[in-house]
Amino acid sequence: MENLFTSLKQNTVDSHQLLETTAPFNTMLKPGLFSQQSYTANLSILASFHEYVAVKIEPNSEARALTDYLQPELTLGTIKQDLQQLAVPSFAPPFTAPIDSHNMADLIGASYVWMGSSMGAKMLHRWLNQQGYAHLPCAYYAHMSSLGRQWRDYQQCALALAASHTIDHQRCIASANGLFEALIECARQYSARTQNIL
Ligand code: HEM
Repeated sequence: MENLFTSLKQNTVDSHQLLETTAPFNTMLKPGLFSQQSYTANLSILASFHEYVAVKIEPNSEARALTDYLQPELTLGTIKQDLQQLAVPSFAPPFTAPIDSHNMADLIGASYVWMGSSMGAKMLHRWLNQQGYAHLPCAYYAHMSSLGRQWRDYQQCALALAASHTIDHQRCIASANGLFEALIECARQYSARTQNIL
């Protein structure tokens, strides 16, 4: 599929790599580094990300077809459920990114980061189940794995919207990268704050 999604993948690969190497994301898949505390941090940051994108995308009725794939209510519900079950102190770190609710390029970029994260989630969910972490709640990762089954259909939907709104591809890529940067910043703020209180 030589299209917007190929460009998104190619042009966000560096941001994704930086995210993966930033704490607490860098503890996933690493039994020596992973802990209930890092898992809580991971979910808390993702909760702020999903909340931010949901608030931006839900009011735009023209993006309704996209929102249906993201399932914001269910996604946020599963994260909150997991966080409640984890008996580790956490907080909702602030999340700011340059996404405009009225701009379809921004919303498609945001939906890409959300739906794309289901690719990694599938692997992380499998890892959580295999590595003796059965005591940890993983409703969020189970849910995101199932969202991943809609990946191709979601892409077709986003491409149709991108074409009908003649979106600026460069802006869409910049928005996706902006969200990765915001996730990294959010992770830094979480680490700084928890170092002070724990
Ligand atoms: C916690 C550590 C993470 C790991 C180990 C991880 C791993 C992966 C893997 C294995 C893929 C599939 C690559 C491929 O098939 O080419 C992927 C894709 C992706 N992930 Fe992550 N990921 C992580 C965190 C995240 C987070 C937090 C987000 C965003 C909220 C995210 C967003 C994406 C996106 C947008 C894609 C691209 C999908 C595509 O264009 O094919 N990832 N990730």
